[in-house]
This record gives sequence, structure tokens and C-alpha cells, in this order.
Amino acid sequence: MKIGIDKIGFYIPQYYVDMNKLAEARGVEPEKLTIGIGQEKMAIAPITQDPVTLAANAALQILDDESLEKIDFVMFGTESGIDQSKSAGVYVHQLLGLRPDARTIEMKQACYGATAAIQLAKGHIALNPESKVLVLASDIARYGLHTAGEVTQGAGAVALIISANPRIMALDDISAYLTKDIMDFWRPTYSDVAFVDGKFSNEQYLAFFGQVWKEYKEKSGLSIADFEAICYHLPYTKIGLKALRTILEEGSTDVQEKLKDNYHISTLYGRKVGNIYTASLYLSLLSLLDQKELEAGARIGLFSYGSGAVGEFFSGILQSNYRDFLKIDHHTNLFNNRTELSVSKYEMVFEESLPTDGSSVDVDTTNDPAPICLTGINEHMRQYTNKNK
Ligand code: CAA
Repeated sequence: MKIGIDKIGFYIPQYYVDMNKLAEARGVEPEKLTIGIGQEKMAIAPITQDPVTLAANAALQILDDESLEKIDFVMFGTESGIDQSKSAGVYVHQLLGLRPDARTIEMKQACYGATAAIQLAKGHIALNPESKVLVLASDIARYGLHTAGEVTQGAGAVALIISANPRIMALDDISAYLTKDIMDFWRPTYSDVAFVDGKFSNEQYLAFFGQVWKEYKEKSGLSIADFEAICYHLPYTKIGLKALRTILEEGSTDVQEKLKDNYHISTLYGRKVGNIYTASLYLSLLSLLDQKELEAGARIGLFSYGSGAVGEFFSGILQSNYRDFLKIDHHTNLFNNRTELSVSKYEMVFEESLPTDGSSVDVDTTNDPAPICLTGINEHMRQYTNKNK
């Protein structure tokens, strides 16, 4: 039985900051950010968007009567969850009106959570072929103003429906994974910004890629020539290119050119969004699928990396007419309708936060075009609205 990605939804908040202007404000050469890091714009979430609302807005695009009836498992992958106990998925379950007899959980392993969810979803579908699983990947990446990691922040979500006979991509059974206890990036429960050893995290990303790629090839008997494209977890777009370059020599000149071209296309969305942690790899995949017509039957490689660290290399095969099931116009509109923030306004938005002392607050959602918004906090409980209801 084929199991894989049946639908993909995506959401970004309404604001962004231009990396050239951020570079100027931070006293660095713009090329360091646009070429050295490889980012053009960074998505910024207003206070009315959190990982729950971003995920719910991403999922809204892909739900229809059939999926509402069949989704019986919701898995929410996030690094920036809003509660240390309750799953962010339970809020989304309610906001989307999913059926009550569903399981809902949150998955955590830095940027790897959504990949774990997809692999678990495959098992669920294998046992329950009529079911569909909603996998949510949603994060607001925060390192703090004036930190080295600041230029690799971002905000956004990807929602995937995993099912039997998927219409977009069937996942291969073979995958290679690795766990190693390292402190390259982490976020203690008392901190709302990540701690990171930037250089070490880059080294480990590349080392994990090298190891899982080698193991994947051994397990599968496949080689670089079997891939139409390889998509990467992209904390910033330059790093995936560095990883790709480590294996390019395994292929002929034609294979190398094809993989470099398709890598570039897979980074176009990420360049304009920034790091969205768990969703980042799936944004790379979406960027490629939305912006290039690839042949059905083509194999796409996927490298997932979650600091701390877990890495996985897996793959999938594009299905016939897969482009008919993408929401390309909607994604184009999301990008076109964003508003640029000056650096000083971005700093204000970044520093706005909900109270943590038990006091209640209402936030104004009038200027937020998103259907699903956070409206405030009341007695430590986040309040949400779906304006479409
Ligand atoms: N023109 C062109 N390039 C320039 C330049 C210029 N004028 N000035 C500098 N550069 C280049 C540098 O040569 C360098 O390129 P190389 O990496 O190819 O050498 C690049 O710009 C970045 O320069 P630095 O290394 O000096 O930058 P930095 O010290 O400010 O830190 C960073 C960069 C480590 C990525 C930092 O932003 C950071 O810590 N980010 C967060 C951590 C992160 O994203 N890690 C990725 C792996 S971990 C992971 O994947 C999980 C996750 O999501 C966090």
C-alpha cells in the first residue's frame, strides 16, 4: 500500500523584515545575510499569531468534508509550544472542528518533530488504511535581538495530510536516522529564546547529513543519480547548499546540475520566510513542488535535522498530476500580501509579549488578516477565535 503526503497547506504571518535593512541596522554588510546566510526576508509574527494559530491557518487550506470525516489522528510538531502540558494540537483540533474520536498529541525534538510525526502517521495508516492523519509543523523561531542567531529567525507553519494512496507524494519505506546527545541548540523551559552554539550546530548538521546519507544508500541500494532533488531542513538557505556540495561529486555533471538547480528552487520560499524549525524542511519541499513541474515518478530526498540531536534521511515518489492538489495561487497571495516592517517596528513587535503573571489581556485582531487569531489571555488560558465561524 502506498502511504504519503496527500495534501500540503502553508501559512505565514502578515509581516516581514528586509534582510538588507536588518544588516544595515546591525552594522554588517548586506551580502553577509543575503549571500553568506542566504536570506532575503524574515517572517515576523504579530502578537495575534502563535504556533497554534499559524498551524490552524495552514490546515484550513487543506481541509474538506472528506478529510474532516477521516482525520482521526492529529500530531503537532513544534519547538515553540505554548504549554508544557497540553498539546498545541488540542487547540487546533477544536478550532478546526475535527471529529471528537481522534487522537491528538504534540511531538518535540527541536526541528525534527514533524518528521517523527510523519513516520508515526505511516504506521497508523498501515493499520488503518481508511484513516487520514493531520501532521502540523509550526514554529516561531526566536534567538533574540542583536544575537548572532537573530538573522536566522522566522515564523510559519506547514500542515500535511498523510493518507493511503496519497495524491502528492508516496513515501519510500526505507529511511536512515541517527540520535546523538549534543548541546548545539536547546531552549530551557524558563527561556523564550533559544540557546545555541552556532558554529557547532552547523558542524553537526553537516555531520548528521553525511552519516544518514551514507546509511540510507547502504540500506536502499540507491545512489545520488536516483534523485530528482534533495530538500533540506533550512535554518538558513546557505547551509543546505553546503550539505549538498558534500555529496555532489558522487554524481555525473548532469546529475550535479539538476540537483543544484532543484536545490535553488527548493530554497525560494525559505529565503523569504527564515527558519520555521519543524516546518522548514516541508517548506523546502513545497517551494520545489509549487515552482517547478517535475515528472511523476521522480524521487525526492528529504533531510531532517533537529538539534540536540536527531537526523533522518528519507524519500518519496511524486504521484501523477500531483500539481493539481497544490494550492499554488494561495501561497503566491500569502507572499504578495505581506507588509514590510521597519527594523524599529520589528523590534517592537518582537518584544511584545503576553503577561505571565496571571493577569488577563485582550489583543486587537482587527489588523490581522488571518482567519484564526489569538485574542488574548484570561486566567493563564490563551483565547482564540476563528473569524470564519
Ligand atoms: N559577503 C558574502 N558572505 C559573507 C560576507 C559578505 N560580506 N560576510 C560574511 N559572509 C559569510 C561568511 O563567510 C560565512 O560563510 P561560510 O559559512 O560559508 O563561511 C557566512 O557569511 C556566515 O558568517 P559567520 O559564520 O561569520 O556568521 P555568524 O557568526 O554571524 O553566525 C550562524 C552564523 C552560526 C548561522 C548564526 O546565525 C546562528 O547561530 N544561527 C542559529 C543556529 C543555526 O541556524 N544553526 C544551523 C544548524 S542547527 C539546525 O539546523 C537546527 C535549527 O534549526 C536551529
